[in-house]
Amino acid sequence: MIQNPIIDAMMNRKSIRKYKKQMPSDEEIEAVVRAGQQAPFAYQLGSLLLSRGKRHPFSAPLLFTICVDAHRMETMMARRGWKMVTNDLSLLLFGIQDAAYMAENMVIAAESLGMGSCFLGATPYHAKQIIRQYKLPQRVFPLVQLVMGFPAENPPPRPRYPLNFFLFEDTYPEFDEETVQQAMQVMDEGYLAQDYYRRANYIIPLEDGRPETFTMENYSWTEHISRKAGQWLGDMNELIKPLEECGFHVKPEKHG
Ligand SMILES: Cc1cc2nc3c(=O)[nH]c(=O)nc-3n(C[C@H](O)[C@H](O)[C@H](O)COP(=O)(O)O)c2cc1C
Repeated sequence: MIQNPIIDAMMNRKSIRKYKKQMPSDEEIEAVVRAGQQAPFAYQLGSLLLSRGKRHPFSAPLLFTICVDAHRMETMMARRGWKMVTNDLSLLLFGIQDAAYMAENMVIAAESLGMGSCFLGATPYHAKQIIRQYKLPQRVFPLVQLVMGFPAENPPPRPRYPLNFFLFEDTYPEFDEETVQQAMQVMDEGYLAQDYYRRANYIIPLEDGRPETFTMENYSWTEHISRKAGQWLGDMNELIKPLEECGFHVKPEKHG
């Protein structure tokens, strides 16, 4: 594969869950933030909250909260005599993309400066607390948090699906059994080779009295991700509630 410093940084990146105490300099933070801001955008709906040097997950020195922010857009539109009519679902779809491309630019910029990072996906479910902590106005939705700092661990990059299970040129294929099995094996053996779940000492417990059939010897990514998606976040209201608290309304209006 072609190599250059940017591709190398992307290929070597991994989520970091142990950090040195060292605080990144203002210049380093500015470079990360500006690189993030320069990502492609649909409406510039991403905004950033920063907290430094407090108690953060994995003892990381920096915690960014990446938000979908319609408040700033509406503030600006009002100066032009406009009101937002774009519906909140469309706004969120664009806003999530604006925020996500920004966040990934920050991740790669941090990598290029010798820093590491890790996303925290439970953020929307903590919306109430984040609103209070940062005094968020309505129409700002905390999408995801990103811890960052200088790494105190250097794990290998994590596996990904093989390309024949990821890139589909011209037509989406019908998966044959061998392709599926091979892809699952690549993921599972890759994570097992890193002792990933054993090091984390974590197996997602089975619910509804289902008997455990896995041990740390064979529990790996395909079972882990299946347990997540097969047991968690079934109720859409768990997400609609924090969205509502932030002033985003995604339930269709009832007619008649
Ligand atoms: C939206 C999102 C949410 C995530 N949430 C968490 C999290 O709550 N805790 C955590 O340790 N890692 C979290 N991660 C990191 C993923 O676990 C990690 O990116 C994935 O396992 C692939 O590993 P890698 O980043 O080392 O390649 C999250 C990543 C994304 C993109």
